[in-house]
Amino acid sequence: MPSQLESLKKHSLVVADSGDIDAVARWKPQDATTNPSLLLASAQDARYRPLLDADLDRMAVNFGREILKHVAGRVSTEVDARLSFDTEGSLAKARKFVSLYEKANISRSRVLIKLASTWEGIRAAEQLEREGIHCNLTLLFSFAQAVACADAGVTLISPFVGRIYDWYKAAKKVDDIPLEEDPGVASVVRIYNYYKRHGYKTQVMGASFRKTGQILNLAGCDLLTIAPDLLLKLSDTQGEIERKLSPEKAADVKKIQLDEKSFRWEHNEDAMATEKLAEGIRKFDADARKLEKVIASLAASASTPIAASR
Ligand code: E4P
Repeated sequence: MPSQLESLKKHSLVVADSGDIDAVARWKPQDATTNPSLLLASAQDARYRPLLDADLDRMAVNFGREILKHVAGRVSTEVDARLSFDTEGSLAKARKFVSLYEKANISRSRVLIKLASTWEGIRAAEQLEREGIHCNLTLLFSFAQAVACADAGVTLISPFVGRIYDWYKAAKKVDDIPLEEDPGVASVVRIYNYYKRHGYKTQVMGASFRKTGQILNLAGCDLLTIAPDLLLKLSDTQGEIERKLSPEKAADVKKIQLDEKSFRWEHNEDAMATEKLAEGIRKFDADARKLEKVIASLAASASTPIAASR
């Protein structure tokens, strides 16, 4: 009997959600994703000291380059959260990442630029896709965000399951929400069905999981990005799993049109999404600022030289 992980791989493309290069190497996923919080954790790990750089963009690319040695597909590199409401700034940052990768002989086809799914981030992604720079729209909590991303022709979205689950657990003051009522899982199912029923090419990558049941309930989703602890649980559990999502079985979801005003209105109508997007941006920014401090203090004390910001 196969493990749940082997069985899952028959239905969805499995991605490693980690800045831990050894973990990525161990799991040999097709793609890998990082974010500022994951890079902060890895930057404090002595194994990765040689990748540190006072320029956080160069450092993110250093990690991305190492990760790409262990995956056949793409790595996602995230734009500074401070640029979440700055389309021009996001464009400049994305182009800088791509140029750093290309200088290292890594084609832009192997990189996904991660941007927050704000109106400004989505507009930046729309332009980048025209330039052949592929984007992964993250911090995605509302249906309005998903609709706007698909209409902008972005390559991939990362709807967050676990952070939606966290919000509803806190709101309901409960310790758990059963899978059949899980609002994070339901959000991804709705988005997947909408994309498939209306012929959108944008791929759906479920992200931010708290338990394996959430992952298994999304088997069939285009991609699933999974942290190493949950990959381990899936690989340690035997069992053939059932495909839950497929384009053929996608239920009908009414087509909607959004312009900037209606996007902002619809997103704002969703209290969970409004709070989680704002909190997510604050948290990624806080972790990037912590990372700068960690690197500055290591540069001041460490015997290993750290590249200075230029
Ligand atoms: C991946 O792209 C996301 O950044 C990640 O899954 C977020 O997970 P978390 O909610 O556990 O931080």
